[in-house]
Amino acid sequence: LSKNIQNICCIGAGYVGGPTCAVIAYKCPDIQVNVVDLSQERINAWNSDNIPIYEPGLSEIVMERRGKNLHFSTKIDECIEKADIIFISVNTPTKTYGVGLGRAPDLTYVESAARTISKVAKTSKIIVEKSTVPVKAAESIINMLKSNQKPDVEFQVLSNPEFLAEGTAISDLLNPDRILIGGEDTDKGQWAIEQLSKVYQHWVDRSIIITTNTWSSELSKLAANAMLAQRISSINSISAICESSGADIQHVSKAIGADSRIGSKFLQASVGFGGSCFQKDINNLIYLCENLNLKEVADYWSQVILINDYQKKRFVNKIIKSLFNTCTNKKIAIFGFAFKKNTGDTRESASIHICKYLLDEGANLNILDPKVDYDQMMFELSNPQLNLPIDVIKNKVQLFSDDVIEACRNSHALVVCTEWDNFKSYDYEKIYEVMQKPAHIFDGRLILDHERLMSYGFHVEAIGKRLNHD
Ligand code: UDX
Ligand code: UDX
Ligand code: ADP
Repeated sequence: LSKNIQNICCIGAGYVGGPTCAVIAYKCPDIQVNVVDLSQERINAWNSDNIPIYEPGLSEIVMERRGKNLHFSTKIDECIEKADIIFISVNTPTKTYGVGLGRAPDLTYVESAARTISKVAKTSKIIVEKSTVPVKAAESIINMLKSNQKPDVEFQVLSNPEFLAEGTAISDLLNPDRILIGGEDTDKGQWAIEQLSKVYQHWVDRSIIITTNTWSSELSKLAANAMLAQRISSINSISAICESSGADIQHVSKAIGADSRIGSKFLQASVGFGGSCFQKDINNLIYLCENLNLKEVADYWSQVILINDYQKKRFVNKIIKSLFNTCTNKKIAIFGFAFKKNTGDTRESASIHICKYLLDEGANLNILDPKVDYDQMMFELSNPQLNLPIDVIKNKVQLFSDDVIEACRNSHALVVCTEWDNFKSYDYEKIYEVMQKPAHIFDGRLILDHERLMSYGFHVEAIGKRLNHD
C-alpha cells in the first residue's frame, strides 16, 4: 500500500458518491478523485453544465474542480487500478424478491462492485463502504474480495458511513458533526483507518473523527437513522392526540424540545418522513433483529414505520372527510412532490402516497414542485406496488414547476406535502380567487400562516392542531 493517499476512486455517482467526492476534491487539491459509474448517461450529466443532482452549492464546487482533480467517467477498471482508496457508493435498495423481501437490503450492486475490484486490482487497496450497508457487510465484502485476490495484493475494508442529509449535503460535508471510521482491530486495520482519517483531516479536526471496529460503525449508521426517524414518528403520534384533544403540536414540540436532554431538532410534525434512507435502514435493522432472534426489538422498530404509514393515511382521511367524503373528479393541487425541500429527490416521498390515495378516490391532481421533473413523477406513480392504472396517471395528473395560479385554478383543495420555502410567500388571496368554493387548504408541513388564510376565506386544516372555523 502506498504511503500517501494520492488517488481516490469512487464507485457510484449518485446522491452519496457525487457530493462526497466533490467536497473531497475541493478540500484536497493534492488528491486526484475519480468518480465512476456504470451509467454512461449519469456520467455524461456529471460532465455537463446541468449536473444530475440538485443540491445547494454542489454545482459551484463541481465546476471549480472538474477536469482538475475531479473526474467523472465510466472507466471503472482503469480508475480502480490507479486508486489508493476505493469508495463503494452504489445503491443498496430493499430486496423486492426472495428471502428477506421488503426488509433485507439488496447487496447485488455492492457485490458486483467488490467483484470488479478483486478482478481488476493489481496492487493493494483500502476499500471503504460509504453506502449504508447491513451490519457485517464488511465481512461479506472481504470474502468476495478474497475470491479473486492476486498474490501480494492486500485489501483492507473500512466502514465510513455518510451522514449527509439531502438538501444540505454540501454544508453537512463541509462541517460534519463527526466522521465515523470503522476498521479491523489489527495493525493493518488501524493503519488503514489512519490513512482515511488523513484525507478528512484536510478540513476536519481530528477530535471529531470517531474510530471503532467495523460492526460498531455499521450499526451506528443504522441506529442513527432509526433514532432520527423514531423522533419523527414520536412527534407525529403526538400530533394525532393534538388533533383530537385541542392541543397544538407546535407548542408541544417547542415545550418538549426546550429540554436540553431532548433537544429541539427533528421535532417537526409532518405528513410523514420520506427519503431513501429512513424506511430502508429501519427495515434493515428489523431484519437484523429477526436474524439475531431479537423479536421484541424488531417489534419496537417496526412501530416507527407503522406510525409513519398511519400518519399519511390519517392525513388523506382528513382531506377526504373535509371534501364531503368524495373526491371523484375534484381537482386537488398538491404542493410538493420531493421528499423534503431543496432536493429534486422523490424516493419514498410521503407525497407519492398522498397522491396514490387521492387518485384511488378519483381525484384529478395538479402537482406543483420546483425541482421534480415529469419523468421522475411518472416513474414514482407508475411503481407497480402502487397499483395505479397507467391511463389514470396519464389522464388525471399534471405537473407544474412554478405556475401556482394555473396549478390551483378551479381546484377544490390545496394540499401541502413538501416544505418548500417559496410555498410560504405565494399570494394566497389571489389563489383563493381562482379556486372552487369552499376552498380548502390542508397543511401537511405546518409552513403556512393559518390565521391569515382563514381571513381570506379558506377552510384550513393542519397536522397536529384544530383550527377554529366559525
Ligand atoms: C424523570 C425526568 O427526567 C424528569 O424531568 C421528570 O420531572 C421526572 O421523571 P427521574 O425519574 O427523577 O426524572 O430521573 P431520570 O434522571 O430521568 O432517570 C429515570 C430513569 O432512567 C433512572 O432509572 C435512570 O437510571 C434511567 N436512565 C436515565 C437510563 O437508564 N439511561 C439514561 O441515559 C438516562
Ligand atoms: C437522513 C439523515 O438525516 C442523514 O443523516 C442520513 O445520512 C440520510 O438520511 P435525508 O433522508 O436526506 O437524511 O433527510 P432528512 O433531513 O433526515 O429528512 C428525512 C425525512 O424526514 C424528510 O421527509 C423530512 O421532511 C422528514 N422530517 C425531518 C420530518 O418530517 N420532520 C422533521 O422534524 C425532520
Ligand atoms: P445513493 O443514494 O446511495 O448514492 P444512487 O442510486 O443515487 O444511490 O447512486 C448509486 C449509483 O451507483 C448509480 O448511479 C448506479 O448506476 C451506480 N452503480 C451501481 N452498481 C455499480 C457498479 N457495480 N459499478 C459502478 N457503478 C454502479
